[in-house]
Amino acid sequence: MTTAKFITFEGGDGSGKTTQLSRTVDWLKSQGKDVLQTFEPGDTALGKEIRRLLLSGEHTPVPVTELLLFLADRAQHVEKVIKPALAAGKWVVCDRYTDSTLAYQLAGRALEDNQTLRDMLRWAECGLSPDVTIWLDLPVADAALRMQARESSGEVANRLDHEKKAFHEAVYHAFASIQKENPQRMKCIDARGDIAQVQQDIREVLQHI
Ligand code: TYD
Repeated sequence: MTTAKFITFEGGDGSGKTTQLSRTVDWLKSQGKDVLQTFEPGDTALGKEIRRLLLSGEHTPVPVTELLLFLADRAQHVEKVIKPALAAGKWVVCDRYTDSTLAYQLAGRALEDNQTLRDMLRWAECGLSPDVTIWLDLPVADAALRMQARESSGEVANRLDHEKKAFHEAVYHAFASIQKENPQRMKCIDARGDIAQVQQDIREVLQHI
């Protein structure tokens, strides 16, 4: 682990992604790395507005609009935040990236998965693909139990969290097939274990990059 890397975290809602990402960032820092923790959608001034439009529930974009807004957020984020950080020698750890768009918009919304859309997704990355992606693999039934527990403890769910089971199943299967197609880049971590075990498995992967 020497030169700065661009690491993304992916997983369905309830997979423990946010907790694991924060712990991973703390660990990388403890190893002497200069790390930027970031997320999509919404980690730029413009992106914050896009996030509100996408997730507040005030609007229901049609699938094409939803896809384009996520891509707009990504381009802004890459150019304004991620690339400058990498250029400054920082490691960047990002909560969600293009794999989420493939899973939630192309698979979840059942947009036709054609070359034009794949090219658009690539174009919105502005030339930047992750070095490594950690996919927290949690079956939909387990995720649903965790989401219920969170909602009863008062956590507010976003517009996409409220989608039906079939949507979350499609998202899950899409992540699984992206991982199969890209085993070098995307590492599957079994997210059913306890927090410490899952974190250990993530460190194991990152130690070898
Ligand atoms: P967020 O509240 O940031 O939390 P989490 O990542 O922990 O779920 O939710 C972001 C939502 O946006 C999430 O439901 C997944 C969705 N999303 C997409 O549908 N497409 C995308 O390209 C991205 C980046 C996120």
